[in-house]
Amino acid sequence: MVIHALLAATLALTATPAAAAPKIDCARLKCLALTFDDGPSEHTATLLKVLKKEGAKATFFLVGKQVERRPALARQQAAEGHAIGDHTYSHPSLPTLRDDDIIEELRTTQALIQDATGRRPTMYRPPYGHTDERVLRMADQQDLAEILWTGTTLDWKLRDAKKIKATVLKLAKRDGVILMHDTVPQTVKAMPEILKELKKQGYTLVTVPTLLRGKGPDSGLSYF
Ligand code: NI
Repeated sequence: MVIHALLAATLALTATPAAAAPKIDCARLKCLALTFDDGPSEHTATLLKVLKKEGAKATFFLVGKQVERRPALARQQAAEGHAIGDHTYSHPSLPTLRDDDIIEELRTTQALIQDATGRRPTMYRPPYGHTDERVLRMADQQDLAEILWTGTTLDWKLRDAKKIKATVLKLAKRDGVILMHDTVPQTVKAMPEILKELKKQGYTLVTVPTLLRGKGPDSGLSYF
């Protein structure tokens, strides 16, 4: 516990520069939230480099099993000002599980993310978008808000950088939330051009909490 507390304190200090970044007001700006699920993966470091170069912030929904394998990448995501959410430990379809198992999937991953980043996530995304009232209630017990999306690229099926880019640009809209996967190498490959084009179109790329303008995410509610 002492080690955890010290780690959390150290991380809080290193995270300060990102937190002190100028405030972005999505009521006035044309904001868009890019979200990446299922990581951290072997492609995440490359993606973080691209996001940093273009000054873009994103939201990562992490799988607990992957955080166990690559805690340093979760730590880097948080330190670089990206938002992190819970995407369960083993990526099951939550409505098929018993209450206790839903809680366990969410709770274990929250703890792993907290150990890695010093912060307990307050958002989760249900695998496959499978959810219902009971899942939402279990998530509420863990102080989690549900974050879905306005557009999904199906990048895992497309597996083609040009097609993924075209799909993202078609789905992009003000206050939109785009679902992608940093486990798909073609998505990461397409990202430099996607970011350049979105910026040319006047978008500011923000995290989901920034997009919500301080109105949430609130535990037990579902967004987008
Ligand atoms: Ni997923």
